Amino acid sequence: MNVLVTGARGYIGRAVAHRLADAGHAVVGFDLAPLVEEGPLHTASSIRQLVGDVRDEEGLTQTLQDHAVDAVVHLAGKIVVSESVTEPLAYWDHNVGGGIALLKAMVAADVRQIVFSSSAAVYGEVAPEPIAEQHRREPMNPYGRTKLTMEWMLEDLDRAGAVHYVALRYFNAAGAVPGVTVERHHPETHLIPNALTAAASGRPLKIFGSDYDTGDGTAMRDYVHVGDLADAHRVALDHLAQGGASLALNVATGLGYTVAEVVASLERALGRPVPTVAADRRPGDPPLLIGRGTAIREHLGWVPAHPDLDDITKSAVAAHRP
Ligand SMILES: NC(=O)c1ccc[n+]([C@@H]2O[C@H](COP(=O)([O-])OP(=O)(O)OC[C@H]3O[C@@H](n4cnc5c(N)ncnc54)[C@H](O)[C@@H]3O)[C@@H](O)[C@H]2O)c1
Repeated sequence: MNVLVTGARGYIGRAVAHRLADAGHAVVGFDLAPLVEEGPLHTASSIRQLVGDVRDEEGLTQTLQDHAVDAVVHLAGKIVVSESVTEPLAYWDHNVGGGIALLKAMVAADVRQIVFSSSAAVYGEVAPEPIAEQHRREPMNPYGRTKLTMEWMLEDLDRAGAVHYVALRYFNAAGAVPGVTVERHHPETHLIPNALTAAASGRPLKIFGSDYDTGDGTAMRDYVHVGDLADAHRVALDHLAQGGASLALNVATGLGYTVAEVVASLERALGRPVPTVAADRRPGDPPLLIGRGTAIREHLGWVPAHPDLDDITKSAVAAHRP
């Protein structure tokens, strides 16, 4: 299939574009920033790279037509939860404004299948047990609300017969795929890259919250290896191509690790300590976020190949360049 991947320069987008190209799809990568800046995207050079803005409906319609696109994987967006609290309009603009422009372009170009990067942030305050897809969606921050709004829009379009979709609710993407992607954001707010920077620089890693009800007091998350996450997009596209029904699915391992456990695992992989300092809880951060991964196994046959935390941290350590 010809697949447009928006946000293809990003941490997860690079892994997705590669995985789809490896599976034989003709991939068109699309991102605000030039992809080459981050190094060549695919050794086989089978990924076309376009610079553009998903808010540009006309440009996108042209791109979809020019490249005879069959399906879209939509990862482009703004992703920093704390920033979404202080700059909500930018989040609504890129994540929802961009989503509307993209969906209008898809309908105009008669492209009817989309895999959308949703997030565990759609759930908000959660129970201690792994969250299933039916859990109440009540996001705690503007970032999560923009993701939920996109899900609502996709549900409406599906009911109207305009598009079919798979919304993948990622839990925490982590780790690296050698030569393909390394976790790096601007600004960086994610635990593993920040811990590796702390270990390299000696400047302590801030641990946000040490009084959560999680055993050791630090926040608990479900870490999904970025290579496994990329593969979920491949199987989601196959499902849509075979005429499968629209779905919203967790991409989760069902395993929870605390911040302190992740730091300890990184220390084992590095063979040296990661300096840390306790800091206040961050606004919008839930204490724990663990997903039930059984529905994606049932519907798409996806199971994580690398659910083990030490595998994830080892891959991050091997690929990290401060
Ligand atoms: N990283 C995680 O753990 C995680 C968890 C849940 C959901 N997600 C979602 O996955 C997607 C990818 O996340 P990531 O970690 O790779 O982030 P990232 O910041 O590395 O990648 C996002 C990419 O989108 C591009 N982009 C932003 N606005 C755009 C626009 N208007 N037009 C075109 N391109 C635009 C950026 O340039 C960037 O390359 C996002 O939608 C994010 O919300 C990520």
